[in-house]
Amino acid sequence: MCDKLFVMPGYELFGAQERKEVNDVLETGILMRYGFDGPRKGIWKAKELEQEICTTFGAGYAQLLSSGTAALTTAMAALGIGAGDEVIMPAFTFVASFEAVLSVGAIPVLVDIDDTLTIDPAVIEAAITPRTKAIMPVHMCGSMAQMDEIKAICGRRQLLLLEDACQAIGASYKGRSVGTIGDAGTFSFDFVKIITCAEGGAVITNNEDIYRKCDQYSDHGHDHMGKDRGADLHPYLGYNFRISELHAAVGLAQVKRLGEFLALQKRNHAIIKETLANIEGLTFRRIPDPAGDAGSFLSFFLPTEDMAREAVAGFTAAGIGGNFYWYDNNWHYIRKWQHLQNGSWMHRLHDDQKKMVMHYANQAFAASDAIMSRCISSAISLVWDEAQAQERADMMAKVLKGVLAKNLVKG
Ligand SMILES: Cc1ncc(COP(=O)(O)O)c(C=O)c1O
Repeated sequence: MCDKLFVMPGYELFGAQERKEVNDVLETGILMRYGFDGPRKGIWKAKELEQEICTTFGAGYAQLLSSGTAALTTAMAALGIGAGDEVIMPAFTFVASFEAVLSVGAIPVLVDIDDTLTIDPAVIEAAITPRTKAIMPVHMCGSMAQMDEIKAICGRRQLLLLEDACQAIGASYKGRSVGTIGDAGTFSFDFVKIITCAEGGAVITNNEDIYRKCDQYSDHGHDHMGKDRGADLHPYLGYNFRISELHAAVGLAQVKRLGEFLALQKRNHAIIKETLANIEGLTFRRIPDPAGDAGSFLSFFLPTEDMAREAVAGFTAAGIGGNFYWYDNNWHYIRKWQHLQNGSWMHRLHDDQKKMVMHYANQAFAASDAIMSRCISSAISLVWDEAQAQERADMMAKVLKGVLAKNLVKG
């Protein structure tokens, strides 16, 4: 059971409900979310999923998109973030977060994270310049950023707040779903997220104007006011970031199962955390609101980088899969984002923009390095029963105790 590589695991429980929703669409043959009102015989999976997202997460509005990356780009466009604007974001996230900033012509301003593995509110003020338009916390690995502090800064400095909640579907902060606290939030439903559409994403917001703009931007600017697409007006330019009915159908089944997934995830997370909690020298990621942790990863710290590397090697040798050492990962941490640091774009950026982007991407991130180099995130599977989760916990504990005993005695 321990040699499988798993990540955020909605796909693990793909089954009869998902097949039923997809079959509804296949039976009508209408795979597009707009138009074809007669032939689709009342089947509107994307609309239904948007409604379900609003109900499940307590959002006023939801707009589905073709991916989480498209959701971020669309949200930024709808928020009016554009050429030369600066967006403050953490140095630990997935590359999609800065790709989206660049896609609207804005500049990602990277800042350190703290032991929550999310943006450190204490360093945000120093990064604000007259060009700053928004702060984009990223709720990484199933848990949440320190939203009270970040929201206060946004209020004080009149900045927009965009939550990248792509990795934290089902997490909450002080009773509110992540993604609903700022001006807008985004989810990803790609294949390795807490729930999946295969590929898909959403913007959620409580602001009708932002929602309308997302709706239009994601479909070439269509105002979607009538029944004839050819007669729609185009108040703004847009692109094609539409989701298909087939993808939405999968997501509709999955969102209805979110409670079931979260319960399993939290149970298995608790079993492993309880076992590892007794290990001297091991510390855990700080969770701003522990009750709101979605539990998709258990993240912990070894005392030094060398010990963390030894633990990762020990897990691999013992056949314990799903342990992520982000410090060496090419996609999630600034240290390996050479394409951003070197300004490697296929298309030419404006010289000013390129200079600013490279300036911010090439700063030192000593505080983040000190955290990330000691951190391991262990993915939690939905398909373990309690005994299997305990077996994994015991195997992990054996490796960690070995590493710590050896090194702490040496020290
Ligand atoms: C933090 C974060 N933001 C955005 C995305 C982009 O989502 P997608 O893969 O659906 O484009 C991801 C995907 O891994 C992510 O982890």
